[in-house]
Amino acid sequence: MADSVLDYWEGSEPSSGSFCPEAALFRFLNSLGARIQGLRVLEVGCGANRGVSLSECRRRGAEAFGTDLSEDLLNSARTADSELHLSRSRAGVEPLPFGKVAFDVIFVIDVLYYLSDEEIRSFFMDVRERLTEEGVLVVQFIEADISGLEIDASSLGIDVNVESMTVGSIAESANPIRWLSERDLLGVAKECGLVAAGRKLHIESYDLDGIDLRFRRFLAFRRAAA
Ligand SMILES: C[S@@+](CC[C@H](N)C(=O)[O-])C[C@H]1O[C@@H](n2cnc3c(N)ncnc32)[C@H](O)[C@@H]1O
Repeated sequence: MADSVLDYWEGSEPSSGSFCPEAALFRFLNSLGARIQGLRVLEVGCGANRGVSLSECRRRGAEAFGTDLSEDLLNSARTADSELHLSRSRAGVEPLPFGKVAFDVIFVIDVLYYLSDEEIRSFFMDVRERLTEEGVLVVQFIEADISGLEIDASSLGIDVNVESMTVGSIAESANPIRWLSERDLLGVAKECGLVAAGRKLHIESYDLDGIDLRFRRFLAFRRAAA
């Protein structure tokens, strides 16, 4: 099913040219008590960002592992950082690679909406088996894009006056993305033996294709007690 996803990601440059929100990711991990030093960290779908977040984990003292469905994108991550452990794998369809290694942190940024419902379920089950006892899964996805925002710092003395706005779908029409909701993921995660451990909304200005603001949802999960 996902060949349109592979074609899209191998066929395009990292689409936004903007920085992925690794600062927001690291602040979120910090708030969960996940200190990176000495941990084993896996990023699932790391490809298009050339392992930037993983390299940051390595700089912070972690052993860093990454997967993507595209070997080409992994090659560019390898070129950017030869110390990363990288392996091609299609999450939700193929099991997570790297033998029996258990991970303290698994994160999946801007990826889950390329998986079908069944693939997300199978991915969560797999993650549950590959997290350490205290391990944490962090999921991030775009929850909304806001465009057409007209802000008038009004002469009436009101600080900000939003005149109009549109909540839109992702700008690039070729992108085979779908919208996910927090509620959908919470339900599936629970069925797969994962419990919610944290949430955060990251709002960023996003100067691309008419999008003014991008809302990114972060969710964290741990293994439910057996
Ligand atoms: C929006 S990019 C995100 C890249 C990176 N996580 C970041 O934050 O910059 C989406 C990535 O997910 C990968 N991808 C999509 N579906 C996947 C799957 N089922 N398993 C692994 N990688 C997948 C694509 O190849 C692409 O590299």
